Amino acid sequence: MGKIGRLQLFMLYYVHYRTVRIEMKHLLSIANLDSKEIQRLIRSAIELKRAVRRPLLEGRTLALIFEKPSLRTRVSFDVAMHQLGGHALYLSPAEVGLGEREPISDVARVLSRYVDGIVARTFSHKSVETLAQYATVPVINGLSDEEHPCQILADLLTIYEKKGSLEGLIISYVGDANNVANSLLLACSLVGIDFRIASPKGYQPSDDVLAQARKNGGQTLLTEEPDKVVQGADVVYTDVWTSMGQEAEAERRRRSFSGYQVDSRLLSLAKKDAIFMHPLPAHHGEEVAEGILDAPQSVVYDQAENRLHMQKAILVDLLKG
Ligand code: CP
Ligand code: NVA
Repeated sequence: MGKIGRLQLFMLYYVHYRTVRIEMKHLLSIANLDSKEIQRLIRSAIELKRAVRRPLLEGRTLALIFEKPSLRTRVSFDVAMHQLGGHALYLSPAEVGLGEREPISDVARVLSRYVDGIVARTFSHKSVETLAQYATVPVINGLSDEEHPCQILADLLTIYEKKGSLEGLIISYVGDANNVANSLLLACSLVGIDFRIASPKGYQPSDDVLAQARKNGGQTLLTEEPDKVVQGADVVYTDVWTSMGQEAEAERRRRSFSGYQVDSRLLSLAKKDAIFMHPLPAHHGEEVAEGILDAPQSVVYDQAENRLHMQKAILVDLLKG
């Protein structure tokens, strides 16, 4: 092959490689979506919920790389792939050793030769970003220290089912501004939900996340007073005070968050038809009083079920193309 031929071949390869990399869709953060895409995913999840088994991903394989424990995320992705005619492969922390046994970039490149998509649950958010940077298949964030986008997309589906719409609602979040709260705040700013949060000092949303939400046009009220945020809420949402990986801080966090428990008194300040949400697992008697998960306002098990339907919508969207 002459000089020109080699150069042309290189250019062709480079352009193809760049195009594939640029067009590859990942779901690492709610910020990867706009409001139209969120609405499309909700519509698709509703359709897939009606027609449980549709072979839309026949012959496709999904790898699940988890650095942290999981019940809902792991099982719902696995069952979702099964019901869509595909196959899921769970890789435990010990098996993969992300960044320890081998660099994350190599894990991404090797897995991309075998599977059609990767779900990763990591400690550092940078780890899912690195996976996405080197993978040539879609990467889905199954929870990182900064975000939990799949949870929040499923939650929007639950809220839509219960309330009939999203725009104009008020969600009041009480507790730690963690991964779940970050994704919720960003999602609310995109779909026109008024997001209010009560957290103690030191556990409030970061300036970056707040700035991103405000840029999207989101209404955000930030306070240290749970009573103030819950008044008039359509949805009262909480999550654990100590997330996975923060166990050494549990005692300090219990002290910092005393007074932030969602109990029947706090719930009674919300609208009469308000719903109570929690991504689970819950620490009963800490962020949520005993019995609240079974109260009439609680929709936590519908939330958990909707993880399955939303995972299917996400998988079809990212893997089918
Ligand atoms: N809500 C949620 O992501 O649950 P798991 O940690 O059990 O996956
Ligand atoms: N904030 C929690 C969510 C679990 C689904 C955690 O990261 O442990």
